[in-house]
Amino acid sequence: MATESSPEPSREGMLPPPSRVGAVVPAAGRGERLPGAAPKQFRPLGGIPLIWHSLYRLAQSGAVGSIVLVVPPGSLGAFVLPKDTGLPVQATEGGARRQDSVEKGLLALPPEAEWVVVHDGARPLLPPALVRACLEGALETGASLAALPVSDTVKRGGAGGFAEGTVSRDGLWLAQTPQVARRELLAKALRAAREEGREGTDEAALLEAIGVRVRLVPGDPINLKVTCPQDLALAEAYLALSKGGGSA
Ligand code: CTP
Ligand code: MG
Repeated sequence: MATESSPEPSREGMLPPPSRVGAVVPAAGRGERLPGAAPKQFRPLGGIPLIWHSLYRLAQSGAVGSIVLVVPPGSLGAFVLPKDTGLPVQATEGGARRQDSVEKGLLALPPEAEWVVVHDGARPLLPPALVRACLEGALETGASLAALPVSDTVKRGGAGGFAEGTVSRDGLWLAQTPQVARRELLAKALRAAREEGREGTDEAALLEAIGVRVRLVPGDPINLKVTCPQDLALAEAYLALSKGGGSA
């Protein structure tokens, strides 16, 4: 059990020590919704590769002891890892679907990592404190995810491009990352999905499918996923705001 003291026992004394927590950063996608010379995770943001931000912010959380970055198949030799995260960072090649990439990343984590923090490489503005909040949220059942309550009105689209109905947004959340799980649970969920031909766009979906209760942890709108060109511009703006003393 995660009963050891963390380096800051005053607030989060129940968190597992960083040596027992590994991060897996899936960054093996093709970024098809953001066309350009290179996949979005390798494009510059604030003058450095977008993916470096995700790695630095995971390291800044002080909650993880090692990071595995999952890169596109065939790109291992081409990618430069940042040297100054203060953590061991290892790169490995991913697979066709996100869940294949996460499963491969899991294999590369050190054996002592009994908790796993999965964080999208494409979410460079991760607030470091959210990593700790997600770890704390996972202590009870072994799993958690950052998510935001849906604030817009939700429509179901029907034939011919007309609205077919309005879906109540009560109880609806938008999934973000970090998604945290006990390593054994995540490995089991990924294996079951592979064997049973199930696809999930996040880890929580695969954990839910094997009966794990996944705690919802309030995420942060700034923790956006860079998906389309506008997101890249927005991320640049948030970053500039934070450098100017703002809250990003
Ligand atoms: N990802 C991955 N392996 C895959 C597919 C996705 O590691 N086979 C990663 C992406 O690199 C990204 C995260 O999962 O960091 C979230 O996926 P998404 O935003 O959909 O990224 P892409 O799949 O790269 O983008 P697109 O769907 O537009 O092609
Ligand atoms: Mg995708």
